[in-house]
Amino acid sequence: MCFIKGVSILGSTGSIGRQALDVLDGLPDFRIVGLAAGKNIKLLKEQIIRYRPLLVSVEKEDDALELARELAGKGTEILWGSEGLLAVAAHPAAGVVITAVTGTAGLLPTVEAISAGKDIALANKETLVAAGSLVTGLAAQKGVNILPVDSEHSAIWQCLRGSRPGEVESIILTASGGPFRKERDLERVTVSKALAHPNWSMGKKITVDSATLMNKGLEVIEARWLFGLDYDRIRVVVHPQSIIHSMVEFRDGSVLAQLGLPDMKLPIQYALTYPDRLPGNVPRLDPAKMSALTFEPPDIVRFPLLDLAYRVGRRGGTLPAAMNAANEAAVELFLAGRIRFTSIYRVVEEVVGRHDITDRPGLEEILEADRWAREKASVADTR
Ligand SMILES: NC(=O)c1ccc[n+]([C@@H]2O[C@H](COP(=O)([O-])OP(=O)(O)OC[C@H]3O[C@@H](n4cnc5c(N)ncnc54)[C@H](OP(=O)(O)O)[C@@H]3O)[C@@H](O)[C@H]2O)c1
Repeated sequence: MCFIKGVSILGSTGSIGRQALDVLDGLPDFRIVGLAAGKNIKLLKEQIIRYRPLLVSVEKEDDALELARELAGKGTEILWGSEGLLAVAAHPAAGVVITAVTGTAGLLPTVEAISAGKDIALANKETLVAAGSLVTGLAAQKGVNILPVDSEHSAIWQCLRGSRPGEVESIILTASGGPFRKERDLERVTVSKALAHPNWSMGKKITVDSATLMNKGLEVIEARWLFGLDYDRIRVVVHPQSIIHSMVEFRDGSVLAQLGLPDMKLPIQYALTYPDRLPGNVPRLDPAKMSALTFEPPDIVRFPLLDLAYRVGRRGGTLPAAMNAANEAAVELFLAGRIRFTSIYRVVEEVVGRHDITDRPGLEEILEADRWAREKASVADTR
């Protein structure tokens, strides 16, 4: 590359956001233009001082005004709330936007960034779960790229490089199986155990989703929209070591896999430098130090959210948006100690079962399904 590319990060204080900044430290051809975060003002302030973005947004007005006072004269404009988040997403100096906020909060800024012609380095899988048809359709219309950051989808994208249409038989998403793969009594698991992922260090919501296998269900739907395959050709296999990040099976039976350490820096960097592969700050895999690589089918009886996500994805319309929002609300209830781990499934299943589906939804209908599902999840039967 020989030109400076502007990049904005939505969710710069989170797990993906921080790792994206580490990756960008090793990529001199990028300039950080915009940062958006929620409540971690201390870390955000350090990021502003270090990277000198043109525009920053935080969740609350008070925090924005305080930051603006402290950083007056440094050349960074500070905004807040949903308008601030949208402004960072659409900043004219950014060519690519890394979407790394959690949950449906990522949907509107992603739509805004695509509408403004930005490429999207997409970590926020919930956007494609809730609004896959709308978002991929808009991206095609605007001629922008949706570059996968999720490690499984990055792996598939890398394995597909150079293949021709019609050659792919299926894609095989790998799943670590989470901390409870061998747990007998799921009714009794605690929040701290659910947050202790064996391989990955991630934000709380995705860590709980990994423990319920809902994360893999969300990824199945994400894969359907990124790669345009129907659900019968998207498979899941549990691979506890998280070294093979996913695989593609071709028509002749050949299977290609992408390997790497369980570290998000590689997929983040690949999304940013694509189609180039550049050296950077990414830890290397040493095959001689690898232990056995093992595989097993997912246990959909103990982890029924994966199967539910397949059924919901197949049905489509506003149902995936409702499922996604119900799951987000149920995970929050679990993290707050208000429901059991196993009640996450009960809440999501109940909300999905009651949802009145709208087919071919527009943005308003998706947001309404999201709002409705959150409300219903908060009063669902959690026994
Ligand atoms: N972590 C991973 O390894 C990983 C891997 C694949 C995909 N993903 C996906 O990437 C996304 C982010 O995951 P994460 O693990 O990085 O989450 P995280 O650590 O919880 O970070 C979330 C980020 O979003 C910010 N945020 C939350 N609500 C916001 C709002 N309303 N306005 C502005 N900023 C807001 C948070 O700000 P504050 O902290 O300042 O409040 C934080 O910077 C998720 O969709 C996840 O599924 C993550």
